[in-house]
Amino acid sequence: MALVYKTNLSLLLLSLFLTFNLASAQLRRNFYAGSCPNVEQIVRNAVQKKAQQSIITIPATLRLYFHDCFVNGCDASVMIASTDSNKAERDHEDNISLAGDGFDTVNKAKEALDAVPNCRNKVSCADILTMATRDVVNIAGGPKYDVELGRLDGLSSTAASVEGNLPHPTAGVNQLTSLFAKNGLSLNDMIALSGFAHCTKVFNRIYSFNKTTKVDPTINKEFVTELKRSCPQDIDPNVVINIDPTPRQFDNVYYKNLQQGKGLFTSDQVLFTDRRSKPTVDLWASNAQLFNQAFVNSMIKLGRVGVKTGSDGNIRRDCGAFN
Ligand SMILES: *[C@@H]1O[C@H](CO)[C@@H](O)[C@H](O)[C@H]1NC(C)=O
Ligand SMILES: *[C@@H]1O[C@H](CO)[C@@H](O)[C@H](O)[C@H]1NC(C)=O
Repeated sequence: MALVYKTNLSLLLLSLFLTFNLASAQLRRNFYAGSCPNVEQIVRNAVQKKAQQSIITIPATLRLYFHDCFVNGCDASVMIASTDSNKAERDHEDNISLAGDGFDTVNKAKEALDAVPNCRNKVSCADILTMATRDVVNIAGGPKYDVELGRLDGLSSTAASVEGNLPHPTAGVNQLTSLFAKNGLSLNDMIALSGFAHCTKVFNRIYSFNKTTKVDPTINKEFVTELKRSCPQDIDPNVVINIDPTPRQFDNVYYKNLQQGKGLFTSDQVLFTDRRSKPTVDLWASNAQLFNQAFVNSMIKLGRVGVKTGSDGNIRRDCGAFN
């Protein structure tokens, strides 16, 4: 009996292992080399144009990607619009920091791809979002890295699936760690991704909180002034687009702020007060290069979360609606 149980367990583990490996083995660089060889350049041009029109493109796209991958995997399920019969992921109340510019970035890149006959409906919205996110990181002065491609778009998107899957501002290290672990991400991944572009999380809260109130009233007023200085709303687009030797937005200032007790939310500040994460915060506050490397590794790992392949997905004709 015990032996049978053990055999079944190892078979189960083996098949889980194989499933996992097959899913990530499907992802590769240059996935579209045969079908749409210029995919990266086309997406990059569209993202760059969009970022020139609105600087919010940068934090909005990053936020959209993070939200997408954490809920149901990186499958563009966050892009789906609600219908009468289905309340979609993006309409859960945790969408507070999702800005229209993120959705628009993906849609614009998709339009640009669809205008090229051989690329039309060949590239998944999930991959477009992955490339666009890489591009905004770089446009904001962050590292440039190669992305793995070959994701399919998911076949379901529900507001209910968001529940408990996104980090909350009040979360402690234990809660945050288990949320990341659920997605195969480590403590270091959590610290790296929490700090990604320190303006990302605050942008909406200091400029466009909701329809009637610009600034989130829960943020200390003096701190708002400081945040506005480091995350200006109307940066000259040319400055952002140029390869800037002193990155304006993507940097390790987040970790330096944590050292000074300037974490915006509990979930930020605990990274410095908890002895498990403090050494990493100190290291990245003092070494931007190490942070950049760690950030890239964590973004690539994030891109492998819950990837859909085979009959679990398809390539959407419209990123906002199922085929
Ligand atoms: C967020 O959800 C609200 C409430 O359902 C909805 O009105 C709003 O359009 C959503 N925001 C985005 C960016 O989808
Ligand atoms: C916007 O936020 C403020 C402060 O939390 C709140 O008082 C107000 O009712 C909100 N307005 C809308 C339209 O949600």
